[in-house]
Amino acid sequence: MISANDFIPSKYTHSVESGFFQWSAPSNIALVKYWGKKDNQIPANPSVSFTLNNCKTITKLAFAKKENQGSFSFDLLFEGQPKEDFKPKIQKFLERIEIYLPFLKDYHFTIDTENTFPHSSGIASSASGMAALAMNLMSLEKALNPEMTDDYFFQKASLLARLGSGSACRSVKGKVVVWGNQKNIPASSDLFGVEFPHAIHENFTNYQDTILLVDKGEKQVSSTVGHDLMHEHPFAERRFAQAHENLDHLITIFENGDLDAFIKIVESEALTLHAMMMTSMPYFILMNPNTLQIINAIWKFRKETKIPVCFTLDAGANVHVLYPENTSEKVLQFIKDELVGYCQNGQYICDRIGNGAVLI
Ligand code: PMV
Repeated sequence: MISANDFIPSKYTHSVESGFFQWSAPSNIALVKYWGKKDNQIPANPSVSFTLNNCKTITKLAFAKKENQGSFSFDLLFEGQPKEDFKPKIQKFLERIEIYLPFLKDYHFTIDTENTFPHSSGIASSASGMAALAMNLMSLEKALNPEMTDDYFFQKASLLARLGSGSACRSVKGKVVVWGNQKNIPASSDLFGVEFPHAIHENFTNYQDTILLVDKGEKQVSSTVGHDLMHEHPFAERRFAQAHENLDHLITIFENGDLDAFIKIVESEALTLHAMMMTSMPYFILMNPNTLQIINAIWKFRKETKIPVCFTLDAGANVHVLYPENTSEKVLQFIKDELVGYCQNGQYICDRIGNGAVLI
């Protein structure tokens, strides 16, 4: 089995003075949710996600060798402007990954980053952002060690992204990514995300995700705090076991294309995630009244039309509406007619399954 130590490099064969790379990395939406973790961003249960296509972070990493190699040195630009409040998170990230990338203090970095989705839309950019930065850092490591295999490159990029933000490790690859050891998913690992290795039915080809922006504000409770509350949680053990079971069910469902069974797992996972929040101590609620209005409207529409549309939720009030490509026209009309009114400023984002990070 691969261990984290396998990603600590011995020595580099090449040297590089300066240059830049640019990668884009997408967001992802979990179907079986990661909620609860051990030390070093090791998940308490396995999760699986659809990689998205349109919601992306694009990051350019410029680097130049420097004299003083005693500390990290970087500038951070967000949409072309210096962004001081993002710096502590990046500083912490660099500290965490230094053991895996011992060259980090040799360079001054300029990190120039932007998102394709609206700023403060309530869509977390930590998954796409950390994945895009990790890809750039791996490109630099590959320049120092060109013999590196593709497997190592992508696994290590995902491992680094995980240390930035857990779910970011699922944003390196597409289209369906598993993170966390699961007995029936060969090569699955707590250390990094892997492409779902089994057959996927054509019903899931180009699956659609329309993200309804219900509340664009800052979350009252961060996911870091939420994960932490799973430590003393009365239902934690059962929940972690359930995630394994649901992932098992999804293996069969992805193979046979049973959309009714898919909907049951996905919606149950979303509500379970929020149920865990509501039953933590302290307890909290991240859904808002419009989230529930949307869920009820989806259930009514599904019952009346038999169209296999369902919802999932992140750690927030926004709703992801998931549906097969061949139902797009009808579902989009339904969204426009009945759901847009529940969105802040009528905003929503049309996305779909995508292929992961791309070098630009
Ligand atoms: O990656 P984090 O620590 O922000 O946690 C994300 C957790 C959920 O989005 C709620 C679930 C998931 O698996 O993505």
